[in-house]
Amino acid sequence: MRLRSLLFVPGDRPDRMAKALGLGADALILDLEDAVAPDAKPRARAEVAQFLSGPRDHGVWLFVRINPIDGPLASDDLAAILPARPDGIVLPKAEGLASLDALAAQGAGDVPVLPIATETPAALFRLGEYAGSPLSLAGMTWGAEDLPAAIGATTAREADGSYTAPYQLARSLTLFGAHAAGVAAIETVYPDFRDLDGLAAYAARAQRDGFTGMMAIHPAQVQVINAAFTPTAQDIARAQAIVDLFAANPGAGALQMEGKMVDAPHLKAARALLARAAS
Ligand code: COA
Ligand code: MG
Repeated sequence: MRLRSLLFVPGDRPDRMAKALGLGADALILDLEDAVAPDAKPRARAEVAQFLSGPRDHGVWLFVRINPIDGPLASDDLAAILPARPDGIVLPKAEGLASLDALAAQGAGDVPVLPIATETPAALFRLGEYAGSPLSLAGMTWGAEDLPAAIGATTAREADGSYTAPYQLARSLTLFGAHAAGVAAIETVYPDFRDLDGLAAYAARAQRDGFTGMMAIHPAQVQVINAAFTPTAQDIARAQAIVDLFAANPGAGALQMEGKMVDAPHLKAARALLARAAS
């Protein structure tokens, strides 16, 4: 499942869902949680189920973000959407295996799950658990909006937009937690959707650090994100050169390329990049 860009669409906006299919996003996240007001939840469940029941040959993965699994809304969300077979479930406020066990107990079955794994203080202490998930994971992601609200912080960001230390920690732990679980690390949203230069720099940093995709909130963000997480011809050529160099030198552990050492981790990274480019 290639997941470079995942675009949120509010679950009570079927007009936007239809439009969102044509934007080039790898996945949509049809939201039943924070983007939908409490009174609109029943209508949103019905709209999302109906949308899922429509044509599915458009090549866009359809995820649904349900409400938190330990709250009063999730069981109605699941009852509405599971019969319509979403491609994935986004699980907000996830707190490690307890949340995944609870989701499994509610019949999520074989639908891949993308936990948002840093939205409560307790969640931070569970980020190493996901390798033991009873459900298949589509990746792991994090959030920088709910956690500050949960602890009475006024913001997660410095004046220049960069994360403050507590949220750098949350991001880093998600990155390593995802890789420890062997699943895709997905960067969180960039809320300032008019600032496409800022988004490009943010997504480039994420790609540099080991994230392979990112969530979006606005159509304008999709192509910028796809570009950031698509290996360039230059990246591919360099990776291929490393693979070729080792193939030409069987038995060598460390070699030099253009005056720099390359060894096992470089070969591993090159192979991973080529696999991603081919997917
Ligand atoms: N999906 C699909 N289409 C979207 C969209 C989205 N997430 N966000 C905006 N659009 C469309 C609008 O329908 C509009 O289309 P039109 O030109 O054909 O009328 C166009 O993009 C421009 O929209 P714009 O005026 O720039 O934004 P807005 O003020 O209408 O909406 C938001 C801004 C933030 C409310 C909207 O982008 C949104 O709902 N994003 C997702 C929010 C969400 O799900 N949050 C939860 C996770 S953090
Ligand atoms: Mg939220």
